[in-house]
Amino acid sequence: MSHADNDAGTRRDFLYYATAGAGAVATGAAVWPLVNQMNPSADTRALASIFVDVSGVDVGTQLTVKWRGKPVFIRRRSPEEIEAARAVTLEELIDAAAENANKPGADASDANRALDEAGEWLVMIGVCTHLGCVPIGNASGDFGGWFCPCHGSHYDTSGRIRKGPAPRNLDVPVAVFDDATTIKLG
Ligand code: FES
Repeated sequence: MSHADNDAGTRRDFLYYATAGAGAVATGAAVWPLVNQMNPSADTRALASIFVDVSGVDVGTQLTVKWRGKPVFIRRRSPEEIEAARAVTLEELIDAAAENANKPGADASDANRALDEAGEWLVMIGVCTHLGCVPIGNASGDFGGWFCPCHGSHYDTSGRIRKGPAPRNLDVPVAVFDDATTIKLG
């Protein structure tokens, strides 16, 4: 074996190991994106819509579903709840904005928060606008809507803040009736 062959062999071995090493690193790097795809990224989640079957929701009750990592309240309001919500004037409200992603810039009158014209369906993100607790439903609090026990925020039957430290009405997410008994969120 000549000196030159010996050098080449050494260099080949070195290149081989170097390549194997780089391959291992590249594989390691490639695994992460694959693993990360198992957990949808925030971008993917932000785009995700879900369809909710509301055919089993009785008048005067609510369904809570999880959407984009948050609880969403879907309430089928009783005539009394609708009437109470619609009797309130804007002057009585702490937050006079609808906070409805479907109606940017609208005022907080109940018609601008309900999903349907009759006002039977109210869909809201179930996160208190104070510090993020999940308010209690079932006609709770001083205004017969939702009550957040964390620091005492009372929301009315339209999910509008009426008393306590929360600064804003409960948010209404992008939602629409996809058919008579299915609500599409997002
Ligand atoms: S988090 Fe709801 S009142 Fe503070």
